Amino acid sequence: MNLKALYKISYGLYVVSSAKDGKFNCQIANSICQVSSSPILVAACLNKQNLTNEFVKSSGLLSVSILAKDTPLDFIRKLGFKSGKDTEKFDELNYKIGKTGVPIVLDNAVAYIEAKVVSSFDVNTHTIFVGEVVDAEIVEDREVMTYEYYQSLKGKTPKTATTHLE
Ligand SMILES: Cc1cc2nc3c(=O)[nH]c(=O)nc-3n(C[C@H](O)[C@H](O)[C@H](O)COP(=O)(O)O)c2cc1C
Repeated sequence: MNLKALYKISYGLYVVSSAKDGKFNCQIANSICQVSSSPILVAACLNKQNLTNEFVKSSGLLSVSILAKDTPLDFIRKLGFKSGKDTEKFDELNYKIGKTGVPIVLDNAVAYIEAKVVSSFDVNTHTIFVGEVVDAEIVEDREVMTYEYYQSLKGKTPKTATTHLE
């Protein structure tokens, strides 16, 4: 079996944000996709160790910022290798508050989606949160970052990522 075959699945790169008890947090994720058209549902696959998973589980709310192709690797590192358990990620971010009260990261965002969780599934290391889209907007019409392009820049993926392979 050649696990590199799994790297041939296409993804984008996103910032998933949520809120809990007035506190904000966010993380990088590639495992986001639209899963239904009526109602419009999106799925986000978040590691159970992540603070963002805890926040989404508790609030039932999340936002997804779709990252631009020229997003600096340092930005991805700060949100994708550090946990909000150890650092206040929103201190350095440009964001706005969405309709549901969750933060929406605007730095390097091409567009964003805001969703209310309607179901969730336990998938061992991760939880799949399915959310109904309640708002969506284009921030700046730029080319989007793909996971493949990120990897071509020698961008790394931590063990908590859905697509991490041993
Ligand atoms: C390129 C990349 C892709 C990632 N994809 C995912 C993903 O799809 N799901 C996930 O749970 N974590 C993913 N991560 C890992 C989280 O961003 C990381 O565990 C983060 O530190 C969690 O932060 P938090 O504890 O503040 O929520 C990815 C990280 C990178 C750099």
